[in-house]
Amino acid sequence: MDARLQLRVQRYGWDRAAAVYDAAWRGPLTPAQDLLLEMAALDPGEEVLETACGSGLVTHRMARAVGPSGRVVGTDLSQGMLDEAEAAAAEAELEHVTFQRMNAESLNLPDASFDVVLCSLGLMYVPDPEAAIREMGRVLRPGGRAVAAVWGERSRCGWAEVFPIVDARVNTEVCPLFFQLGTGDTLKNQLEEAGFHGVEVRRIQVTLPFASQEEALEAAFAGGPVAMAYSRFDLGTRDEIHEAYLDSIAAFRTPEGYRIPGEFVVARGVWPR
Ligand SMILES: C[S@@+](CC[C@H](N)C(=O)[O-])C[C@H]1O[C@@H](n2cnc3c(N)ncnc32)[C@H](O)[C@@H]1O
Repeated sequence: MDARLQLRVQRYGWDRAAAVYDAAWRGPLTPAQDLLLEMAALDPGEEVLETACGSGLVTHRMARAVGPSGRVVGTDLSQGMLDEAEAAAAEAELEHVTFQRMNAESLNLPDASFDVVLCSLGLMYVPDPEAAIREMGRVLRPGGRAVAAVWGERSRCGWAEVFPIVDARVNTEVCPLFFQLGTGDTLKNQLEEAGFHGVEVRRIQVTLPFASQEEALEAAFAGGPVAMAYSRFDLGTRDEIHEAYLDSIAAFRTPEGYRIPGEFVVARGVWPR
């Protein structure tokens, strides 16, 4: 898939996620976001940026960590996700947070203007993640830190069949590099190649809880990388896909719903002084 098409698929696929994302993904993503924020160790008064901030689940926590003497900027490709983030920030009276629509590969922000840049579960969707990592460095002040979280190894993510199931029906790969950054030392190597020092990496195994078949299906298809393809399938194709996906996660069914294994990788690097 060419890069411009991939950006469109992501932008409008994530617009579709805006209304359902927090309910479907807040719980399952919390362990990765907790680790990301722990490794970022934000201090009151810091100026911080989140790229691919989505509905602001992490951005709002960053705002609480740096407090009103700090400054927080959230950027994302999807206006729908940003609208959710902005509304929630206003409701929580987080006045030191602003949101702007931007591709993580080319940030419209000045050089050396932040103390910390985070990217929580966004780099897998970007056509050129190396460019997005270089941008994280460019906007950091000397000695500033970047922390990025991605999904881990494909074999440790029990929901991974969602991609081949959809790809087989659209004759393309909707998110070709999805598991690349979480495989082996790829994320560490990319941070080092972009110029970061002292790169530390942590890998965690988690269980993603979904209470019912409906919840598991909504989380997989309603918004996000496969949502554009899914929205164009007829009802028969949707039924087929649901059946194939539920078969692929059948081993993780329990009396309380689904408990699907997942893995996250979180890496932190320091921009040279
Ligand atoms: C899984 S969500 C993560 C949102 C948030 N950071 C969190 O942890 O909940 C992925 C986000 O990446 C955004 N995204 C995808 N491609 C992007 C790009 N090229 N530039 C900026 N954001 C992008 C999507 O719009 C979506 O909001």
